[in-house]
Amino acid sequence: MLRTKTCGELRRENVGEGVVLAGWVDAVRDHSGILFINLRDRYGLTQIVFSQGITNEQLDLVRSLHPEDVVQVSGVVQLRPDGIVNKKILTGEIEVNGERITVLNRTQVVPFQPTSPELPAEEVRLKYRYIDLRRPVMQRTMSLRHRVTKVMRDYFDELNFVEVETPVLGKSTPEGARDYLVPSRISQGEFYALPQSPQLYKQILMIAGYDRYFQIARCFRDEDLRADRQPEFTQIDLEMSFIEMDDIIETINNLMVRLMRDVLGRELLLPIPQMSYDEAMERFGHDAPDLRFGMELVDLTDIAKTVEFRVFHNAATMSDGKGRVRAINAKGAAEKYSRKDIDGLNSWVIEQFGAKGLAWFKVDAEGKLVSPIAKNFKEEQLRMIAERLDAESGDFLLFSADNFGTTCKVLNGLRRRLAAELGLIDVGEMNFCWIVRFPMFDWDEESGRWVAMHHPFTAPLQSDLGYLETEPDKIRAEAYDLVLNGFEVGGGTIRIHDSQTQSRVFELLGLSIETAKSQFGFLLEALQFGAPPHGGIALGLDRLVMLFAGLDNIRDCIAFPKTAKATDLMTGAPSNVAQKQLDELAIKINSPDRK
Ligand code: AMO
Ligand code: AMP
Repeated sequence: MLRTKTCGELRRENVGEGVVLAGWVDAVRDHSGILFINLRDRYGLTQIVFSQGITNEQLDLVRSLHPEDVVQVSGVVQLRPDGIVNKKILTGEIEVNGERITVLNRTQVVPFQPTSPELPAEEVRLKYRYIDLRRPVMQRTMSLRHRVTKVMRDYFDELNFVEVETPVLGKSTPEGARDYLVPSRISQGEFYALPQSPQLYKQILMIAGYDRYFQIARCFRDEDLRADRQPEFTQIDLEMSFIEMDDIIETINNLMVRLMRDVLGRELLLPIPQMSYDEAMERFGHDAPDLRFGMELVDLTDIAKTVEFRVFHNAATMSDGKGRVRAINAKGAAEKYSRKDIDGLNSWVIEQFGAKGLAWFKVDAEGKLVSPIAKNFKEEQLRMIAERLDAESGDFLLFSADNFGTTCKVLNGLRRRLAAELGLIDVGEMNFCWIVRFPMFDWDEESGRWVAMHHPFTAPLQSDLGYLETEPDKIRAEAYDLVLNGFEVGGGTIRIHDSQTQSRVFELLGLSIETAKSQFGFLLEALQFGAPPHGGIALGLDRLVMLFAGLDNIRDCIAFPKTAKATDLMTGAPSNVAQKQLDELAIKINSPDRK
């Protein structure tokens, strides 16, 4: 061993001990001939002082050091003199009187200092990820991620789950995103798909009798990236047989209690509340509502029908009956939003959510609603609106008049944005909820057909099965999502376990028998060989870690993440490959951008 102690463990009790430390030079200081080094490793920082009992040659060596040089130091632990104790670090009471220093490796000038309070641009951090990963906060997050997976593994092990690895080179699983494909050399022109999730394999494992399966599974989805999405991410994936929805929920509730306790040292009170999808959309406009603050959506469609203001009236009386006028009340925020700010919000909702505009009122000192659009309303109508929205002096009211879906998007967006801007969010809070009873199908306007809201293996509620061929939009699914602080951290369903229902669902989704057979024939066949009732869920590990660490960017929870363009700035992936490799795969590149 090149060291006897780490840089984070020496305390008052160690005074007098001879130690050897190794690590990175965080800083070198010269105080009138007395030299100090802060030596750093992933455990902490220890101050080394070089003053007496050391040769001039060694002192010159210390003077020549640069931040991030790798050194080994031997010396004796001593108390720091009164007055220079550093209470901010755990080793702040002691220092090591350096007797001998060896340079293990010199560094080039680093592109940035891992402990500097100023962070460089994210591209620089990603390109030099090994420097970035030296930052104490990154090291804490990686350790937290390790704790989360360790606690999960132990938990599932105690409950008799078996960890099974499923293939990475597989067949396309329809989770709704685009597949990453891998060309086959042996069967030229054929492709494997990287798994979007282990969905089909885990269902097959249930048929195979492994009634409690889990896996820390890498998933791949070629989709547009956002702050909470990566092309390559990790799921805590599980599946159980002979269970009902409540059993999965209970298993995950207890897991969350364990994680909160063992990782964050906090208590989570059960049960985690449940809300139906319909209620979530009505009250929050989103199926992953952030319940850390109020500002719920209020419906005014009935009042809007009676007003002359064209924008409200037209929406409220849309011929398909799907128009709505809804609003939120940002309490006490009237003064905080100038006309210029409101113009900004107006363009934002138009660009982001396809709104047609943003109607608003402020409530003045007398409790009257004021706005450029106020003239379009009768006194009595304004009073009704104010009453419905519980409006008081100083409040700021924002409206969306559109089809239901757009009002959801606009008001959810405004609700979240205003809550952040107004400081309504307690960032320390961990607010869990379950969203249940999702619609089974969604009508896709673009392709003019039904699509599965979760995935096509989800079981419809038994009571709704009758609507399958007649009114698919009425069918609710045995689906459940776990939401934490406004993020979907997990999603799962009870599955269809008879091949007949499965075929009916494929048919409704517009999959011909031939296509269904060629894509999922193996599943349909397996379902005929003694498939037990089963269901499961997958938690997004990266998102969970992000929220447990109090971060707002998923990239900060992944050691080697990809950019929004799905590139790895450190290695340069994706990259061109040699012509020989392409020839072996019988692949010809047909892109004008190819260099
Ligand atoms: P689903 O598609 O809902 O379900 O995924 C489960 C959870 O995985 C996380 N997640 C992501 N995290 C980071 N980047 C992404 N691109 C990304 N996509 C999803 C989310 C999500 O809740 N096979 C089903 C699960 C099941 O039915 O058992 C599935 O994959 O936190
Ligand atoms: P207009 O009559 O189109 O100028 O709109 C009058 C006001 O209503 C403006 O403040 C618009 O931003 C707003 N507005 C227009 N369309 C909508 C809508 N669909 N929902 C909410 N407000 C809107």
